[in-house]
Amino acid sequence: MIQFRLCNPTEIVFGAGQISTLSKLVAPGTRVLLLYGGGSIKRNGTYDKVMAALRDCDVTEFAGIEVNPVYETIMKAAAVVREKGVELILGVGGGSVVDAAKFLATVAPLDVDDAWDYLLAGGRVATVLPVGAILTLPATGSESNPVSVISNHGKRLKLPFAEERARPRFAILDPDTMASLDTRQLQNGVVDAFTHVVEQYLTLPVNAPVQYGFSEVLMRTLVEWGPRLVERNDAEARETVMWAANQALNGLIGAGVPQDWSTHMIGHAITALYDIDHARTLSMVMPSLLRFRNAAKEAMLQRYARNVWDITESDPRAAGEEAIRRTEDFFQRMGCPVRLSDVAPIKIDPAEIVEHLERADQKALGEGRDIGLADVRAILHMAA
Ligand code: NZQ
Ligand code: ZN
Repeated sequence: MIQFRLCNPTEIVFGAGQISTLSKLVAPGTRVLLLYGGGSIKRNGTYDKVMAALRDCDVTEFAGIEVNPVYETIMKAAAVVREKGVELILGVGGGSVVDAAKFLATVAPLDVDDAWDYLLAGGRVATVLPVGAILTLPATGSESNPVSVISNHGKRLKLPFAEERARPRFAILDPDTMASLDTRQLQNGVVDAFTHVVEQYLTLPVNAPVQYGFSEVLMRTLVEWGPRLVERNDAEARETVMWAANQALNGLIGAGVPQDWSTHMIGHAITALYDIDHARTLSMVMPSLLRFRNAAKEAMLQRYARNVWDITESDPRAAGEEAIRRTEDFFQRMGCPVRLSDVAPIKIDPAEIVEHLERADQKALGEGRDIGLADVRAILHMAA
């Protein structure tokens, strides 16, 4: 195992009806910024539950956080945070809102001209405001991890930022909030969570039977329960997928193992330039990326084939290829594209993606930092 440190302080409050516990998690009188998106929380009743639980707090609202949250909008929220002397940022929604809440908590106290450039240059961050999350869409794991993926419209970039102190102090996961999710968002959530496991598991093998074993349980769970969630959206499927998606990216399975994340960086570029849903950019890239990397990933692909897909083929290459084929088939069953051409009439130009990666300083990807820009171009041509 690689040496690691792990500290996940997010208190998870899980289960139906748990939004009311907010009144105990936030002290009366706290100045709260309630951050949310395009209004789904008003339509499904979550907003009313949150406001009822916060009746003894001093609440300011900031609505309109976009899907793939936008830097320029978050900077408007930062001005509100400063003006009102906000003490807690509460993100209520999916990964976009929770990511925005964490980034806002980091940038609002900063007194700099351009927080984006400042953070990318490694500028010191003295204070980060406390964050709370109420999750309504399981997918990203954002509710208990330190990452915010932010889009800068001015620069046409989508980049991840990590700030340990922005990990939510608490995250309420009430599976009932998922009842109003449409099929596309349910599909996206399952596929995104599945790829998070793959990016931490299908790399170079180290001695990590605990992490790999748990990863396999998470993948098998998503393969079994994802389709059920999409077909029935029943209470058991909701709670199962909500918990699996959280565990897929809360730091546990990634501790002590090499991590890849090349599919994600390519996917972020596709979203930045073509505005395609996050999960769908991953499903259209990952199968080709795994095929391109089948030699480097051979040992773990073989294990994946056996332990996730029950493939008994003894030839490692053939087993790996069959496992990739099953992965592709799973993405398709979840209604997601597996080739760039599946999103026609949108025409994705590999040169533009490569240029985004170059501007993002993501020129050496993969678990061995050995996927260069020429390799990305080749992967995207394979995925055409
Ligand atoms: O904006 P509202 O009105 O709330 O509607 C949202 C949005 O339109 C809607 N929605 C959310 N909960 C709902 C609901 N509609 C009905 N009922 C509910 N209960 O769903 C739409 C998508 O929401 P969004 O938050 O954008 O989806 P998701 O959770 O998939 O988040 C995607 C973002 O997370 C980033 C992605 O890049 C993307 O920007 N990621 C964050 C990661 C992290 N922090 O670790 C890792 C991921 O790999 C990912 O990159
Ligand atoms: Zn993702």
